[in-house]
Amino acid sequence: MAGRILIKNIKAIIQAETEPQAKVSGAAMKNLPIIYDAWLAIDDGVIAEFGPMAEWPGILDWTNLEVIDATDKLVFPAWCDSHTHIVYDGTRETEFVDRINGLTYEEIAKRGGGILNSAKRLQNASEDSLVEQALGRLDEIMKLGTGAVEIKSGYGLSLEAELKMLRVIKKLKELSPLTIKSTFLGAHALPIKYKDNREKYIDLIVNEMLPAIAEEKLADYCDVFCDRGFFTQEETDIILQRAADFGLKAKIHANELDFTGGIQVGVKNKAISVDHLECTGDAEIEALLNSDTMPTLLPSTAFFLGLENPPARKMIDAGLPIALASDYNPGSSPSGNMNFIVSLACIKLKMTPEEAINAATINGAYAMELSSELGSIALGKTANLFITSEIPSYNFIPYSFGKDKVETVIINGEIKHTLETF
Ligand code: NIG
Ligand code: FE
Repeated sequence: MAGRILIKNIKAIIQAETEPQAKVSGAAMKNLPIIYDAWLAIDDGVIAEFGPMAEWPGILDWTNLEVIDATDKLVFPAWCDSHTHIVYDGTRETEFVDRINGLTYEEIAKRGGGILNSAKRLQNASEDSLVEQALGRLDEIMKLGTGAVEIKSGYGLSLEAELKMLRVIKKLKELSPLTIKSTFLGAHALPIKYKDNREKYIDLIVNEMLPAIAEEKLADYCDVFCDRGFFTQEETDIILQRAADFGLKAKIHANELDFTGGIQVGVKNKAISVDHLECTGDAEIEALLNSDTMPTLLPSTAFFLGLENPPARKMIDAGLPIALASDYNPGSSPSGNMNFIVSLACIKLKMTPEEAINAATINGAYAMELSSELGSIALGKTANLFITSEIPSYNFIPYSFGKDKVETVIINGEIKHTLETF
């Protein structure tokens, strides 16, 4: 059972909400609520109280209280990473070298590499081995400050293997302290045996996979890779409508490689989020403005694959919210370091540190329907937070890219990690 923790002398509590909100959009993304010289109390897994040291209550019950002195350190809500593929077998550094030598991501996919390569390996891997590998990755991202994460299937691509992946994610929900959401991504790539019969694979998804997944309650959301060379807008529509019949809301991959109508079909199906969005123009922005769908950007994928960056500035200036996620997967983003994602958002997408931190906390929580319990420091929210090492300001997180400044991680009110400092 989670105990009681008091953090005192905090240099600044970042994202300290007095009026909790579900998400922040447009110009409001520049506002990052902060309390300087502060204290924070955690009781039974939740944020019980916080405020400036000048308003120290002085009447605390000190029994069973663990006290942390955070002089010169900052407290952040734990990162909310709303898009990952961390259940996979083995890595794909050979394809990384192939790309350096001139092949494109799409060329590698066409010759059976890429997602199909991971699918072949996953089909042969045991459930236990997949759980063990994924738990290692969850531990790795937790130590980097992530407290909630969405995980997709999509390296199964057969009924049995997709169910195996989703059962692995269900196990991870039981075994990991992180808050986890599970997404079915049967339409991640077309298996080779359906090469000349796409409809048959769509049939398999809607008539066999979705009913079996719903029956076992294995997924929270349904995803489709709606893009050039993968699944069309029409196919996406069919899958998402059927998923809705089974109570699965949409969270889709859209417009990474081309202007494919993915954003529009996501909005039409009331997607919780549409993700990637490297190819976003005026029509796509317009569609998103009239929706509750969270546009989610994955800057490490564009960085790793050398793609054009999405027009984040234009999107925010038009009034849209943005969430940031890592896309942690073996092919296009073999890292789940949200601190680096925040850096990339500032450096490559020209988001300000305030916008990037909002995007990686409260808006990431919204993209997993978790913003009433996570994504900010607010009374009664789950105590998922991290304490930095001694740093001059929150700007230092994106500025000092590649350095680990997350010193202590608290999940569900328990200290889960303390960085060794020398
Ligand atoms: O989000 N875009 C599709 N899926 C993943 C890539 C998966 C892979 O290459 O294994 C992504 O980038
Ligand atoms: Fe992805």
